[in-house]
Amino acid sequence: PEIRREDYRPFPWLVPDTRLDFELGLDSTRVRSRLTVVRNAKADKSPTIRLNGDGITATRVKVDGEPTSAFTMDGDDIVLTLPGDAHEIAIETEIDPASNSQLMGLYASNGMLCTQCESEGFRRITFFPDRPDVLSTYTVRMSGPKAQFPILLCNGNRVATGEEGADHWAEWHDPWPKPSYLFALVAGDLVANTDSFTTMNGRKVELNVWVREGDLERTQHAMDSLKRSMKWDEEAFGREYDLDLFNIVAVSDFNMGAMENKGLNVFNTKYVLADPDTATDGDFDAVEGVIGHEYFHNWSGNRITCRDWFQLSLKEGFTVLRDQLFSQDMGSAPVKRIEDVRILRSAQFPEDSGPLAHPIRPDSYREISNFYTATVYNKGAEVIRMMRTMAGEERFRQGTDLYFDRHDGEAATCEDFVKSIEDGVGLDLTQFRLWYSQAGTPKVTVDLSHEGDEAVLKLGQTVPETPGQPLKQPMPIPLKVALFDRASGKHSGEQLVVLDKASAEYRFQGFAEKPVLSINRGFSAPVTVERSIPREELVFLAARDDDPFARYEAMQDLMVGHLVAAVGGTLSDDERRGGREDIAEAMRAILTDAKLDDLMRGELMIMPSQTYIAEQMDVSDPGRIHTEREALKAELGSRLSAEMHALYDRAEKIPFSLEAEAKGARKVKTLVLTYAAASDPAKAAELAASQYERADNMTDRQGALMVLTGLEGVERTNKLLDFYNRYRGNALVVDKWFALQASSLHPGVVEHVKALAEHPDFTLRNPNRVRSLYMAFAANPHGFHAPDGEGYRMIGDLILALDPINAQTAARFVPPLGRWRRIEPGRAAMMREQLERIAEAPKLSRDTFEQVTRSLG
Ligand code: ARG
Ligand code: ZN
Repeated sequence: PEIRREDYRPFPWLVPDTRLDFELGLDSTRVRSRLTVVRNAKADKSPTIRLNGDGITATRVKVDGEPTSAFTMDGDDIVLTLPGDAHEIAIETEIDPASNSQLMGLYASNGMLCTQCESEGFRRITFFPDRPDVLSTYTVRMSGPKAQFPILLCNGNRVATGEEGADHWAEWHDPWPKPSYLFALVAGDLVANTDSFTTMNGRKVELNVWVREGDLERTQHAMDSLKRSMKWDEEAFGREYDLDLFNIVAVSDFNMGAMENKGLNVFNTKYVLADPDTATDGDFDAVEGVIGHEYFHNWSGNRITCRDWFQLSLKEGFTVLRDQLFSQDMGSAPVKRIEDVRILRSAQFPEDSGPLAHPIRPDSYREISNFYTATVYNKGAEVIRMMRTMAGEERFRQGTDLYFDRHDGEAATCEDFVKSIEDGVGLDLTQFRLWYSQAGTPKVTVDLSHEGDEAVLKLGQTVPETPGQPLKQPMPIPLKVALFDRASGKHSGEQLVVLDKASAEYRFQGFAEKPVLSINRGFSAPVTVERSIPREELVFLAARDDDPFARYEAMQDLMVGHLVAAVGGTLSDDERRGGREDIAEAMRAILTDAKLDDLMRGELMIMPSQTYIAEQMDVSDPGRIHTEREALKAELGSRLSAEMHALYDRAEKIPFSLEAEAKGARKVKTLVLTYAAASDPAKAAELAASQYERADNMTDRQGALMVLTGLEGVERTNKLLDFYNRYRGNALVVDKWFALQASSLHPGVVEHVKALAEHPDFTLRNPNRVRSLYMAFAANPHGFHAPDGEGYRMIGDLILALDPINAQTAARFVPPLGRWRRIEPGRAAMMREQLERIAEAPKLSRDTFEQVTRSLG
């Protein structure tokens, strides 16, 4: 059944107080709950209360201390009749965490117990109004064998502890009312990296990062990131932490990245553990970003939560924006912006242009887990970023101050957020609200002409049709623009134009000759820009645009334009040669520009991904894109071989550190190797093998191994074996070993992945491992789109095998197959065939069923 946003009704009961008692055991945990409930004066009166359950049975139900049978089961839920206005409900359940392979609710991971309740996992623990608008104060007692679970953690503060024989117990109290999805409990044999942070008003907060014994030495970066996050949120948003204790726990079996449970964040080990020997620079950045993200949720998510799950972007879009701004401030802001746009384009644009397109605030769903998407998260962040751009940073802060002030302690809506920004900033966002209701990536058309001393900019917009939304209205699109004088190479100031009609014209005086237009600078709006711009203007912008994003964009446009034409078969030999020459010259300027730092240089060197190129075409042939892209790479590699190797030699001399300069050096080194791999594989293999052997850090080692994995030859075999043996005890690094092989450009990638699925270290029970092999493969067009359809069949098989074990993870493999309408007919038929095969399987989970039926449309 579909759940619709418009059907929201307040819950008829309040639950001011919740007491939970856990008798912990790996394969049997007894849960006793006691809820005080009182009628909600702001809701319609109901004679019953619905307590959600999922796969659990109540061994006992009491009302006001007396056993009762005045309830019925509606599916998995208990519907209990309550005569008066205030009652106490007590329920007992018994659950088996060890057999919980879905990793939702209470589950066992590596001998410890932990929970994941967002969105609807709490109902797998006990019967409860498991909806985010029911806020309650929790007191929790947990007990269990001390030897097995020496550490007992829950939300809030630990208020009492004790021992009884071989057992011990702890009682926790969380003073902040919260929805059930923020409940968390952890019990296990853990050690902590402990530190403290003093808040702006002098509250001393104890900080712990809890891990398994051997992992302790890899927690310092997480701890440092946490302290930086706490400080940054005080300065950037005026937000202070509100408990005396903040715990982070790393678990190795986790469906997503991490979870913001109040005072007890639970993390995938991938986003906690990092040291130079086992984590890449990218991993270090991801740890910092996710630690920040979960910490920032304390205000944008916990203090102010969501009224219902349609409002998910209220907390996720805003929190992603907050973590992006944090990372921008901690490192290179331009590089971070480019990375975030690349993620948006590779993950969200395809969503927006496919069968699963939905607005950042969806109107309906069957399974909410399917809506933890790049649209809700990343486009959601872009939408709020646009408000910030239009308001200006300072006034935007007045808007967020008002939001936090006005809605603290509430379960709020996206509308509440927009209204607060509107009131706090003094900006009319009436039309802007369309960004919350309309799906699809707007397309902006650009035409610049020149009349007398005026430059005339004509802009148009269309928002494409998406499932269920055939007709769209124009939206306000804030575009930062600059007009460059050709002779001086300068512009006279950046301007913000807000295109809020289907088309509009803007005139700029004082141009004796036609200027060069730089538009959507900083990626001020999440749109695609369509313009017929002469190649020499892109070369001009790639060399001198002072907006780093726009410079990156010019370089991307130059390559994308050429590749799309080449794939379309419309290029004459002359045009092909001219195009490649221009790209090579622009790239040469980038390789030799002494003013560029290497982190930014690396961005400018990155070729557009196959997926991004495919997005530019209505229907594409992945094989042809691959061929043309590799050909361009090879040509650039050979034409620019001297400059590239000079860059490599310079970068190689910079010793290891985590400073920007050294990170940049590592980035450009591996990029040079990828170009060399296309133009001169023998030389590339030699260089990569040497980089691998000499590496004193994971970034260099993994970069070299990535290049070798795509090549034929003995070094490939040797180094893959060496890497495995060197790191076989470290799950996160073994994940890299799987992922490198699954994402490689090697001709045998399909066979390699099949063999890896039989490897003793492969298991369907660990989401990180599944993703490292199969998500890497599904995201590798060279393997996934193998002409005989074998890639599609492998993903189809995986979905069917994984669905009964971990439905949430299984469903995440459907979207790659769901792109079939945009792929050439031969492959499209084979992709569709897999979707149909899955749809026919008996007992499909709600997660996978929803994604498959929507994909078949
Ligand atoms: N709120 C978490 C985060 O973004 C993600 C939780 C995802 N849970 C889920 N069941 N899909 O930080
Ligand atoms: Zn989040």
